[in-house]
Amino acid sequence: MIMHYSVNNIPVGVLGASGYAGRELCAIIARHPRFSLAFATANEQRGQRVRLGGRDVTFIASDDAPLADAAIVFAALPHGASLPWVERTRAAGPRVVDLSSDLRPGNTATPAVYGMPELGAATRAAIRTADVVANPGCYPTSILLALAPLAARGLVRAGATIVANAASGVSGAGNAPKRELLFAEVADDYRAYGVGNTHRHVNEMTATLAGFGADVDLVFTPHLLPVARGILATLTVPLAEPLADPVAFFREAYAGEAFLEVDDAQPTLRDVVRRNVVRLGATMLAGTRAPMLLVTSAMDNLVKGAAGQAVQNANLMCGLDETAGLLA
Ligand SMILES: NC(=O)c1ccc[n+]([C@@H]2O[C@H](COP(=O)([O-])OP(=O)(O)OC[C@H]3O[C@@H](n4cnc5c(N)ncnc54)[C@H](OP(=O)(O)O)[C@@H]3O)[C@@H](O)[C@H]2O)c1
Repeated sequence: MIMHYSVNNIPVGVLGASGYAGRELCAIIARHPRFSLAFATANEQRGQRVRLGGRDVTFIASDDAPLADAAIVFAALPHGASLPWVERTRAAGPRVVDLSSDLRPGNTATPAVYGMPELGAATRAAIRTADVVANPGCYPTSILLALAPLAARGLVRAGATIVANAASGVSGAGNAPKRELLFAEVADDYRAYGVGNTHRHVNEMTATLAGFGADVDLVFTPHLLPVARGILATLTVPLAEPLADPVAFFREAYAGEAFLEVDDAQPTLRDVVRRNVVRLGATMLAGTRAPMLLVTSAMDNLVKGAAGQAVQNANLMCGLDETAGLLA
């Protein structure tokens, strides 16, 4: 059911509000012109009071959440833990934006609507009417938005392998304590992880690329970058034919998109942190026999890669301006 609200106040709840993505959600909701926070849950951190977006928020236990009081519930829970809460929330009435991988393409036989609005008008229409939206993963957001216009126009060479190397800040791993993420382990170092094309996000990206009609392999290697937030992805894409002006191509493809930036200069994390944007650079590679394109993509994993994109989807679901409450 699509609800268009005539009153100013749309109550929204956050499950997993004490996590990094959940905290970012609470901060965005605090400055949102129409959303108000109905509840914020935690597991081990339940009972704690924190300041988020200039407001005091007290985390309650998930079992105490008044689910039916919300119009939209954001589920910012670990994968596996999320699906039962999505089902419980739907049974109580609210529509859901799920930030976990549980209902994303490639992770279940029955995926929810994939919440990547910039894929185009049909995706936006599906998000507007969806009861459950699967919010894309952080790496997939940075990588798929860099590939979508190329795939949609049949520019990627059939049967080719796209190589995607991406580095993420440490908040990408969540805020549950882990020894390997201690400051002394991460600082002044740089490493790949999830090597061998085994990272959880590979299935989501290959399933979505197949949905674009692209006949390609994707080789994805994530890296751990010793900063708090941000992703920089570097993609090597074999093309069917050279692009005369790759920057102009992406500018035209994303013309009118509030949250997609394309520039001649290489994007950096400083360009994008705390903003709900993906910023792209693109250049043809010299010295290869077949045409190869290099696309670079920078994004804040907690904003456009998680909470910001989730609010973008919730705005569409509520019939609001897609950009409401979001910093471009
Ligand atoms: N971090 C990112 O950059 C990012 C980006 C995109 C998507 N995501 C996805 O968003 C979700 C949240 O990620 P995160 O990084 O915010 O994780 P996180 O920091 O570890 O937070 C997880 C949240 O879920 C709660 N929780 C854990 N187990 C629970 C359970 N069994 N029942 C109820 N609540 C439980 C935690 O509560 P306590 O802390 O109080 O125990 C916390 O509020 C994940 O699915 C993740 O894959 C994360």
